[in-house]
Amino acid sequence: MNSLSLVSVRNLSVDFWRVAGPPALSSVSLEVSPGEAVGLVGESGSGKSTLGFAIAGLLDPNDAQLSGEILFKSQNLLTTNQDDYRKIRGSEIGYIFQDASSSLNPLLKIGKQLTHPLMANGGMSKNDAMVRAKELLDMVEISQSERRLNQYPHEISGGMKQRVVIAAALSRDPSLLIADEPTTALDVTVQAQIIDLLLRLKKSLSMSLIFISHDLGVVARVADRVVVMKDGNIVESGGVEQVLANPKESYTQLLLANIPKLRHVDQSHSLSFWGTNER
Ligand SMILES: Nc1ncnc2c1ncn2[C@@H]1O[C@H](COP(=O)(O)OP(=O)(O)O)[C@@H](O)[C@H]1O
Ligand SMILES: [Mg+2]
Repeated sequence: MNSLSLVSVRNLSVDFWRVAGPPALSSVSLEVSPGEAVGLVGESGSGKSTLGFAIAGLLDPNDAQLSGEILFKSQNLLTTNQDDYRKIRGSEIGYIFQDASSSLNPLLKIGKQLTHPLMANGGMSKNDAMVRAKELLDMVEISQSERRLNQYPHEISGGMKQRVVIAAALSRDPSLLIADEPTTALDVTVQAQIIDLLLRLKKSLSMSLIFISHDLGVVARVADRVVVMKDGNIVESGGVEQVLANPKESYTQLLLANIPKLRHVDQSHSLSFWGTNER
C-alpha cells in the first residue's frame, strides 16, 4: 500500500448473497490520499454505492460476502472487530447517502437531528451539542442558523436540506467524507452551490472526499482524480484533466459525450469543467 494513503482498497470483491450472477464489485482497487477528492463515476448499477458502503463498513455480512482489503489509516477494516469498526466509521468517516432528503426525519426539528448523534455517539452534553449544531449550520453556510435549529425539514428549501445533511455528516469532524450523488436531486444552480460548498469544506477541514456521481461533468468539477466504474469493475482512472482530455475507454467517451447537455443548461459554468475547478 502507498503509505501516504488515507484509504487503500485492495482487490475488493462484494457479492450479494441473494443475487445470482456476477458480483457487485470484482477485485476493485482504489487509493485515496489525505486531502484528495476522488470521483467515482459510472452508470447506474456499476457498483459506486456498493464501494462507498463497503469503505464505510455499511454492508452487512448477512447480505454480502466481502473479500480483499480495505485499509483505513493502515488498519484493515475487514478484519477489524465490529465495535472498533463502528468507532472508526462514526468519528472518521462522514457519509452523505444517495437519497439524502430521506436521511432527515420529517418529524424532528433540525437542531434535534444534529444534536442527537453528538450526544448519543459523541458523548456531548445537550448544551455543547446545541453549540456544535449551530456551528455546523454556520459551517455549511446556512443563514440564521439559530432559527434553523428550531425548524422542521419541510420548512426549508431542498438546497438547505442538503446543507443540513452535509452538516450532519461533518459533525464528528471526519477525515473522509463520502458523498453519494449529493447533488442529483437538486436543480443546476443549487447543484453548483453545493459542489462549491463541498470543495470549500474539503479544503478548510483538510478532509479527503469520495464523490460519487453518474455524471462525469459533475465529477470533473469536484475531483482531483476520476475512477470510472462499469459492471463492478474499474475500467479507467487517472487525473481529471488526463481522463477528460484523453479517455482511453469507449465507455468513458460515452460518459463524456453526455457532458455537453449539462453545459448547455449550465451556461454560467460552461467552460469550467475543463481544469478551472476551485481546488
Ligand atoms: N443490498 C443489495 N442487495 C442486492 N444487490 C444489491 C444491493 N445493493 C446493490 N446491489 C446490486 O449491486 C450492483 C451495484 O449496485 P450499486 O452499487 O447500487 O450501483 P450504483 O451505485 O453504481 O448505481 C447492482 O447490480 C445492484 O443491483
Ligand atoms: Mg448508487
